[in-house]
Amino acid sequence: MTLAQFIAKRTALGKRHAKKLLENGEVILNGNTVTIGTIELGKFDHLTAAGKTLQSNTPRYILLHKPAGILSATTDPTHRTVIDLIDEPWAHELHLAGRLDRSTTGLVILTNDSKFSESLTRPENKIPKIYLVHTDQAIPEEAITKFRKGMSFEKENTRSQPAIVDLLSENSCRLTIHEGLHHQIKRMFLRFDIRVTALHRESIGSYTLGDLQLGQWRQET
Ligand code: URA
Repeated sequence: MTLAQFIAKRTALGKRHAKKLLENGEVILNGNTVTIGTIELGKFDHLTAAGKTLQSNTPRYILLHKPAGILSATTDPTHRTVIDLIDEPWAHELHLAGRLDRSTTGLVILTNDSKFSESLTRPENKIPKIYLVHTDQAIPEEAITKFRKGMSFEKENTRSQPAIVDLLSENSCRLTIHEGLHHQIKRMFLRFDIRVTALHRESIGSYTLGDLQLGQWRQET
């Protein structure tokens, strides 16, 4: 939406009045007077007209340590969601940049900036996500080789990027994947009839849990 359209809508005074405000130098965009009405207004631009604030949205970037049992969703009629863990008036404005299964613990990122969340979740960007995985059986060499090669996912008609596998014990590993397909890690292990008994996400790209305890969150700038 252009500046003139936005002002007209917000002030309910119509386009002519919006133009007048612009011409009179009464419109301030991010601290500067603007007279051109065709500028595209960004979601986080601060805008005043005739001394009245018309838009002031704060971009928010939240890192949260999700406990098991909490849903990666913004609303749910029966279960508690990650939003319920953020006791702030602006919590309902947030959306998730990638989900975790209900039983999975670890890092989730919430934001009101859709450009940012898209940059994290777009498969082409190949953002690494690191997980600690525990399984009900020993992880065979064959599985590790396949994970490292990349696997096909028929339902999504795609192939995973080569994963990084660090075997920690017979039945646990640190696994880095570059996609966020539904139940991806559980499905990777199920190909070898292995069940994941515990799954924990340590990081997404350069974002890590740090010292966040289960259920806690912090805001990044
Ligand atoms: N892979 C899964 O199977 N589950 C998750 O929660 C995340 C990745």
